[in-house]
Amino acid sequence: MARDIVIWPHKVLTSATQPVTDFGPALEKLLSEMHEAVIEAKGIGIAANQLGEPLRVALVGREDGTFFEIVNPQVLERSEDITLEEACLSVPEAWEKTPRFKKVKVRYQDKTGQWHEVEAEGRLAHVFQHEIDHLDGHVFVELLSSLKRSLIQERMKKLQKALKRKKD
Ligand code: CO
Repeated sequence: MARDIVIWPHKVLTSATQPVTDFGPALEKLLSEMHEAVIEAKGIGIAANQLGEPLRVALVGREDGTFFEIVNPQVLERSEDITLEEACLSVPEAWEKTPRFKKVKVRYQDKTGQWHEVEAEGRLAHVFQHEIDHLDGHVFVELLSSLKRSLIQERMKKLQKALKRKKD
């Protein structure tokens, strides 16, 4: 069974993650656990802190169902405002229109430490922004109105309590 996904609000989701310096077997293991969790949850992206690991690692889903493995990513360029429906594995069943950029240029390392640059547009650009925000300690609900955010927060608190009861 895949590792549990942390539900927002939680400190590990609202704190910036640490850069990866060790490109060894621990990183390999974390990436494979992230693949397992995102596939089981039928997600299109996941950040390491969603599994409780405060490291700058994420998976970003391509249209063909495979994933970019991004380590220590940085957004180099952003352009054209757009509003898109957004959801998150850490905020179950909340779909909300969220302000984003249509295009981004991202620099990241792969699991061997080699640097790459990618230009993304549309849905792919959207997932890059969402996952890199996670690594910076931000969840998409922060981009919504405070009313929407507090309604979602109430729902998530109830969900957390229900999940905790199930485990106890
Ligand atoms: Co998310």
